[in-house]
Amino acid sequence: MIVQQEVDLQPFNTLAVPATAERLCAVTTLGELQDALALAQAEHLHLHVLGGGSNVVLHPRLKGLVVQMRIQGREILERLPDSVLLRVGAGENWHELVEWCLGQGLYGLENLALIPGTVGAAPVQNIGAYGVEIFRFIERVEGLTLPDGESVCLSAQRCEFAYRDSVFKNRLRNRFIITAVVLRLPLFFTPEISYPALREQLTAEQAGELTARAVFNAVCHVRRTRLPDPQTIPNCGSFFKNPLVSWFLYEHLQNLYPTMPSYDVPAQPGVAPLRKLAAAWLIDQAGWRGKVFGQIKVHDHQALVLTNPNRVGADAVLAAAEAISRDVKERFGVVLEMEPQVFGG
Ligand code: EPU
Repeated sequence: MIVQQEVDLQPFNTLAVPATAERLCAVTTLGELQDALALAQAEHLHLHVLGGGSNVVLHPRLKGLVVQMRIQGREILERLPDSVLLRVGAGENWHELVEWCLGQGLYGLENLALIPGTVGAAPVQNIGAYGVEIFRFIERVEGLTLPDGESVCLSAQRCEFAYRDSVFKNRLRNRFIITAVVLRLPLFFTPEISYPALREQLTAEQAGELTARAVFNAVCHVRRTRLPDPQTIPNCGSFFKNPLVSWFLYEHLQNLYPTMPSYDVPAQPGVAPLRKLAAAWLIDQAGWRGKVFGQIKVHDHQALVLTNPNRVGADAVLAAAEAISRDVKERFGVVLEMEPQVFGG
């Protein structure tokens, strides 16, 4: 395991903020990860784990040890008549996995095509798009606990998955490093095309039978038209979660803005009923789409995405986010929660 000092992290975060890691090591095996943990413990270094760097905002200097997760591997653990149990290393690229599964006749992930990042990051925020969330397919998550490095396997239930949320963002934040994800994938294709833009795209290009490949292609097309490619315009996807609000506030806003989009939230015993609003719509209504604040630009085609064309630092990004959420709070009384995780600072 090679540990480098004062490493430039700008190429390793899709928002392209300038940042430096005091120390950095890439780990490709469980053994190397254990060595990294031992080093961190011996020298009392704070650990930061980076996957694809596509859902993080990095402060200019990360003290301690940054571990780049590079553990690879795709292994079929079990084959049943209707499904397969697949174990994937945390360092695998997410989109490459989606494409590979499609080629193998393993279905379910096609709606999640082109999501940037790694497999190990997928359960952390329970990635989701076009009507599908990854938790549906997760059987278990494997990893090491911090600081002792004990190997632990968490069932899906123990991962406490929710909308863009999991135990890894909460109770196990900084206490667990995901090393592999075990997915249960069906061998039969069941299309999920309830999302209007996806349905429209499929109607436009689909003449015959609806295949998983067609859904995959449609998702790629819709994403490419609406979301900026981080390779050309630095960004970290949706910057805010879609907010859950009280039924009272929802009805109040619905009266004022009858066209406001909103979504059902499954009722939970003992919890007052909630309604999910579209953060993109609120930000757009507040006039932010296409606007520049500091040097941060709100994307022209999706108000939920902040872009960083001039590759400026975390402070500028967070200031723009703060200005947007303050404005949305003042206009609509809705509190926006950030989606990416902030490292350092
Ligand atoms: N809208 C606007 N203005 C905009 C964009 C959208 O008014 O600039 C409206 C749309 O018309 C729609 C509503 O807001 O009625 C919701 O927009 P959209 O359907 O584009 O989805 P979203 O809720 O903004 C979520 C995910 C995306 C995912 C899409 C598609 C979150 C935080 N974001 O966005 O995920 O790709 O749905 O399923 O849940 C990501 O997490 O990085 C991400 C891109």
